Amino acid sequence: MIYLDNNSTTRVLPDILDAMLPYFSTAFFNTTTLAGALYDVARPLSEARERVAELIDCSAEEIILTSGATESNNWVLQSIARHSLRQTGKCHLVVSAIEHPSVLQVASYLAETEGRVEVDLAPVSCEGVIDLAALRDLIRPDTALVSVMLANNETGVIQPVAEAAALAKEINQDCLVHSDATQAVGKITLSLNDNLRDVDFLSLSGHKFHGPKGIGALFIRSGVDLAPYLYGGGQQGGARPGTENPALAAGIAKAAEIATMHLDDRRLESLRSSLEAALCALGVTVLGGGARRLPNTSLLLFEDLDSEMLIHRLAEADFATSSGSACTSGSDSPSHVVLAMGINYSSASGALRISLSHETTQNEVSEFIDVLKPLAQSLKKP
Ligand SMILES: Cc1ncc(COP(=O)(O)O)c(C=O)c1O
Repeated sequence: MIYLDNNSTTRVLPDILDAMLPYFSTAFFNTTTLAGALYDVARPLSEARERVAELIDCSAEEIILTSGATESNNWVLQSIARHSLRQTGKCHLVVSAIEHPSVLQVASYLAETEGRVEVDLAPVSCEGVIDLAALRDLIRPDTALVSVMLANNETGVIQPVAEAAALAKEINQDCLVHSDATQAVGKITLSLNDNLRDVDFLSLSGHKFHGPKGIGALFIRSGVDLAPYLYGGGQQGGARPGTENPALAAGIAKAAEIATMHLDDRRLESLRSSLEAALCALGVTVLGGGARRLPNTSLLLFEDLDSEMLIHRLAEADFATSSGSACTSGSDSPSHVVLAMGINYSSASGALRISLSHETTQNEVSEFIDVLKPLAQSLKKP
């Protein structure tokens, strides 16, 4: 199979698998036991925190390992909302309209079930970039949290998170800022010590940069309080209890180390440009094509075509692609991201996402173009 769906998940690279294997077999011990201490099975956990911290330029003490970005996002939104409700009896959250469901659905769950939680959605431009002027109007002196993703999973459009965070702090210096950086981490250079210094919480996930599924992290800025989301044992200082998983930690540590060699990948960007140029003749629009994007992602909008049908036919020809979010594909309703960009409901079902990795070759892209062109022509609605 030619795999062009790397924003949904990535292949665990052989070196990463090798780093994990001993912790499933010879060194399988619980980190809290004597055997665990003798075999030093806690080492991959501290290595994971160190390597992840290097990747996003923060300190290892600011990293807590989680089961992935869904957990990290839930943790931040739910804990902040509960804290604000306890402190002030109300809570105001602002999240962007193009967030992943693991932010949007938590926000709407909180608004529905926790009395006095108000949620405002910040709109985006037709290029899929958050509208900072509209965001400014939504943030209030009592806003508890602003959450804006670093890069969108469907379009790859990079969001002005540093500007959004500075704006939030300007309006309310106590307002906390969260960024779901799941798609950006491992693809572009990020610095929580530099341009992202106003960001308090940042979520990421190992399986988006060739690590294993089931492990991610939450950055919590030093000095910022976040009540635990899970309660239990004292692991990770009680911040995130639960038996630690050295194998997954060894995997994310190695994945983070390898990812530092593939940031801001110019080869991928030119591969993506060649793909988009070749498809222009088919009347395809590149959604967010005028904005700054991750180097690997292309969201193509086909006129008069249902992309679900195209994705199935591509899969039969051994090409893995998707219509956008892994969580919404397969459902009948068009993507909330495409709709938020002002594309009308009937056209929105023509979106096809191609997401490359540093493993993708020019030959694979050329083969894909050769198969896609006639398929797309044959599936056009009359
Ligand atoms: C932007 C974004 N946030 C969150 C997630 C969820 O990540 P995880 O699979 O680690 O829970 C994804 C996965 O598709 C994503 O793309």
